[in-house]
Formats: sequence, C-alpha cells, structure tokens
Amino acid sequence: MRRLKSDADIGRIRESAALVKESLGLLRRSVRPGITTADLNEIASRFLASRGAQPAFLGYMDYPAAICVSINDEVIHGIPGKRRLQDGDIVGVDLGVEIDGYFADAALTVPVGEIPDEVRRLLEVTEECLRLGIGQAVAGNRIRDISNAIFEHAREAGYGVVRQYCGHGVGFAVHEDPQVPNYPGGGENPRLKPGMVLAIEPMLNLGTSETSVLDDGWTVVTGDGRASAHFEHTIAILKDRTEVLTA
Ligand code: MF3
Ligand code: CO
Repeated sequence: MRRLKSDADIGRIRESAALVKESLGLLRRSVRPGITTADLNEIASRFLASRGAQPAFLGYMDYPAAICVSINDEVIHGIPGKRRLQDGDIVGVDLGVEIDGYFADAALTVPVGEIPDEVRRLLEVTEECLRLGIGQAVAGNRIRDISNAIFEHAREAGYGVVRQYCGHGVGFAVHEDPQVPNYPGGGENPRLKPGMVLAIEPMLNLGTSETSVLDDGWTVVTGDGRASAHFEHTIAILKDRTEVLTA
C-alpha cells in the first residue's frame, strides 16, 4: 500500500475533487435527449482545460477519452461517441481529475427524461448503497465494513451486485490499493486509518450480477441486457471524521 496522505496531500486532492464535483454538475445539467456522449466528453474536457486540470482517465491504460459514459445496460467504462441520449435512458457519467499528481474520481447515474419506476428505484438504491458504504468508512473500521453495508442493502432490494469491478484507493494515482469490493469476500481486509483516501463505487444491476466486455475492449455490459447503475465518491478518512471530497 502507498503511504498515507498528509493533511497537505488531502488539501491538494480536495482541489481535484472540487473540479470533479463541478464537472459532474455541469454534465448532469447537460444531459438531455439528443445530446451525444461525445458532446458530454467535450463539455468536460473544455471545462477542465479552462481550469488548468487534466482529465485523469485520458490515456490511462490507453483509455481514449476524458470521461466514461455508460448507457442503460452499460455498467461502466463506456467510451464517448456518436450515440445520442434518448428519453427513458439512464446515463452513467464517470470522471477523474488530476492536478499536479493529485487525483480524485467520482460518478453518478442520471435519468434522461422519464424513466420506468423500477429503474428509478435502482438509481435510488445504488445511491443509498454509496451513502451506507461511506457511513462505514471511518477510522478503526475495516474495508469489509464498507463492502458489507453496500452488499446487504443491495441484496435486500434484490439487485445484482457487480463483482468484477471494485472501488479503490485514490489520490496519488487513479487506482491504488486497497481494493474496495462491493461484496464481502475473502482476501485482504485492511483497517481504515486517518490519511486513507478511497473511491467507493457500488455498481448495481436490475438483473444478473454477471457482466461482459464489448469488442471495443472497454465497455462493460450486464449479462442479461437489463439496466445498471453506478454512483461513486472520493472520500478522505480523517482522525475524527470522514470527508466526502466529491460531494
Ligand atoms: N472510473 C473508473 C474507476 O472509478 C476508472 C476508469 S478507468 C479508465 O475506477 F481507464 F476508464 F479511465
Ligand atoms: Co473509481
């Protein structure tokens, strides 16, 4: 595991997180039927350039865009392109920002116009899972306390919890140790300490938890074609509290 973040480090990560938050607000307000996913990418790219910040995903493992845009049955890592959003879609928007080697990462899923009640409920429960997971992300707890809180709430609601992709440490890079699974598993289960910065990101499916990757090598889709939702925040564990840096 990398070194813990100092208060000064967290201050720098907070600046990146502020731009993640602003970008996501801008993207959320831009979502409407007819806009292309490439348009959303352009909006985020221009905004970050205007603030002198880097889109952290661009070029990461050769990822070709500033943001990930994942529609309906796309879980995560959708590549922006010519596709136009339609009334009734849900669109996941995921964005990382780097300023001078300090990184933050967040995502949300936005309805496009009117969506079916069962999909609206999926979005609500996924966001609740994120909130419950964050509630367990306090010094003295362990990673698995976060995982359990997310998984239990999702399971009670009857959703598939994606297992192939996890939350993660963040701050000095896009992805750091430790992994933050959305399900209770075996393996390492580190204790949470002041100075840890984590991206917590439940991914819930209406149907099966199984996923596959499209031929573009990136886009993760559900195994049954049913909808998927994703919400993510970057949080910092401090001595006496936990701060949601991207909220
Ligand atoms: N947003 C993803 C995450 O939260 C990372 C995207 S990886 C990229 O972990 F390659 F697409 F940038
Ligand atoms: Co992330």
